[in-house]
Amino acid sequence: MRIIAVINQKGGVGKTTTTANLAHAFAIKGYAVTGIDMDPQGHLAAHWGCYRRDDNGVDKVLLGEKTIPQVAVSARDRLHLVPAGEGLKEIERGAGDGLLASRLKEALALVAATQDFTFIDCPPASGLLIDYVLSVADEVIIPVAADYLALRGLSDMVETLSDFEQKHEKTFNRWVVVTRFHSRRKLSWEVRDKLLEYFPGNMLATSIREVSVLAECPSFGKTAFEYKSANHGAFDYASLARDLLNGEYYRGQER
Ligand SMILES: Nc1ncnc2c1ncn2[C@@H]1O[C@H](COP(=O)(O)OP(=O)(O)O)[C@@H](O)[C@H]1O
Ligand SMILES: [Mg+2]
Repeated sequence: MRIIAVINQKGGVGKTTTTANLAHAFAIKGYAVTGIDMDPQGHLAAHWGCYRRDDNGVDKVLLGEKTIPQVAVSARDRLHLVPAGEGLKEIERGAGDGLLASRLKEALALVAATQDFTFIDCPPASGLLIDYVLSVADEVIIPVAADYLALRGLSDMVETLSDFEQKHEKTFNRWVVVTRFHSRRKLSWEVRDKLLEYFPGNMLATSIREVSVLAECPSFGKTAFEYKSANHGAFDYASLARDLLNGEYYRGQER
């Protein structure tokens, strides 16, 4: 099982959109996929149209009260959601003992034989929840929106990852994904060039275009694969899934 955290402390960069659509892309391909909603706001659940206020979720798993199969709900064929749970807010503020990360790790180990991918949608913050996520993830996807503030704060993000790697003697497979890309906007191309300087070999080949389908989907509780047939959002996320399977990285522009 590949455990992939979708992470960036900045909000609005496409973390939840990427988690929701990429996870569904893999489920459609025939893989067994779990999405964990690690954001107390429950956006992943909402995006998949399965938000329920009183759900048990990853909060109970972190506290050792439930296993993943006990809290997971079926979101689509071959796609399961572990909701955030009402208690995740408290956990974000420090509730619980010192064993939360290790419990989550054990809970994931128990489902490793039955799942191909676990994607973890992270909150737009650094802090305890991110620590727990980084303890269990092998890979991180960092969505970066192709706008003028894109690179701001990115060095903090990279530093957080590197600090964690040093402290815990582990190395993440890192992937940067360009999101909200406008092919007619010079700025988008410039941002992507800049990212390539910083992350050669670590940017996934596909850039996700800014398209209205992706903005509209969440309010219908649908992914791009369900919303309208043959749209750019579905095309881009299917292509991104292939990149992730094949380790296909961005090598520079073909205009
Ligand atoms: N490629 C895109 N094209 C159009 N809208 C997008 C795209 N990616 C994200 N959005 C929209 O931007 C907003 C923020 O995206 P979201 O995935 O929730 O970001 P995050 O989880 O990083 O806060 C949402 O309303 C989402 O629908
Ligand atoms: Mg989000």
